[in-house]
Amino acid sequence: MSAPRDSRAHPGRLASAAVRSLAPYVPGKPISELEREYGVSDIVKLASNENPHGPSPSALSAMRAAVDECWLYPDGSAHELKRALARHHNIAPECITVGNGSNELLLLLAESFLGPACSAVCSQYCFAIYPLVIRATGARCIETPAGGERDAMPYGHDLAAMARAPDANTRLIFIANPNNPTGTWLDSARLRSFIAAAPADALVVLDEAYVEYAALSGCDNGVPWLADHPNLVIVRTFSKAYGLAGVRIGYALSHPEVADAMNRVRPAFNVSNVAQAGAIAALADQAHVLAAARSVVAERERVATALRALGASVVPSAGNFLLVEVGAAASVYERLLRGGVIVRPVAGYRLPRHLRISIGLPQQNDRLLEQLAPLLRAA
Ligand SMILES: Cc1ncc(COP(=O)(O)O)c(C=O)c1O
Repeated sequence: MSAPRDSRAHPGRLASAAVRSLAPYVPGKPISELEREYGVSDIVKLASNENPHGPSPSALSAMRAAVDECWLYPDGSAHELKRALARHHNIAPECITVGNGSNELLLLLAESFLGPACSAVCSQYCFAIYPLVIRATGARCIETPAGGERDAMPYGHDLAAMARAPDANTRLIFIANPNNPTGTWLDSARLRSFIAAAPADALVVLDEAYVEYAALSGCDNGVPWLADHPNLVIVRTFSKAYGLAGVRIGYALSHPEVADAMNRVRPAFNVSNVAQAGAIAALADQAHVLAAARSVVAERERVATALRALGASVVPSAGNFLLVEVGAAASVYERLLRGGVIVRPVAGYRLPRHLRISIGLPQQNDRLLEQLAPLLRAA
């Protein structure tokens, strides 16, 4: 690689070519930004798949108590949290890696297993972070075509195409079940056969960020498969059904050697004491998680039915969000913002006619439907 010219005036040129080629991830618009930019108040945010019911009250109390100890470094090995997770999943603590959100675990996997001579596989319309972490390492990103708009799972992962895609240098294969932004899910027998048939030199990263919602639609989770498939890595988060997106905590379950590799690059103290305390308490209150997830799933079906009645095409979802075809999505997004409703445009995913709408509380969903109805009728 040639040395960048004029690096004093433009030090950004010193970044690696791989990093310079990346388009940054665009998160959902924060409420404070909409207030600042548009001067609107009473805002409903349905843009980042958060849990509108929030975390368990016991998680809130545990986090408030943990703040008193904020001057101490957290337990870098997350001993108590790993013990709780090990019990919850009936798995050895050595199989667990904790992360600053599951996003960090995706990054740690890429840092540990990829480099410029490698490749990794992901699907068209997959979670945007996968190609980002792959390309940041200089590895080649092999993107497989997704299902078509008329498939039973429109825009979903095509496992047959993904099985054909790896080359001799493939080290990671990313699968989200259910997938974000599509909400689509995979048949568990086919997924398990895919993992069993994956190349010996590649790990299958199964991202189960929305598993608590998917379980209510009858989807299996991959944890029982770990014992038979040392090439499987499961990534989970406390950001969604557990309602802890703001404190940033997730974890990976894998063969202990994979966990060991990730722990070598994991930043020291990457998960705060507040997040660890919140996660332990949230995990212990499964009744709260289940009640919140049930309510969100019931609302998801109500909103999907209402949108279909308005003539919109809605992709089936096992998550806490819906991918909805609205026509001129950029202008519908803008009109919704002016009405104080933030949803997520997905043109960056090459879906310029769709919006992704997170499911909120019933009155928030009503607000969305009220604002969206005239826009859909006019489309
Ligand atoms: C499929 C998927 N994986 C991972 C993440 C990252 O979540 P977090 O870093 O908050 O755990 C998200 C967040 O939207 C997601 O949708």
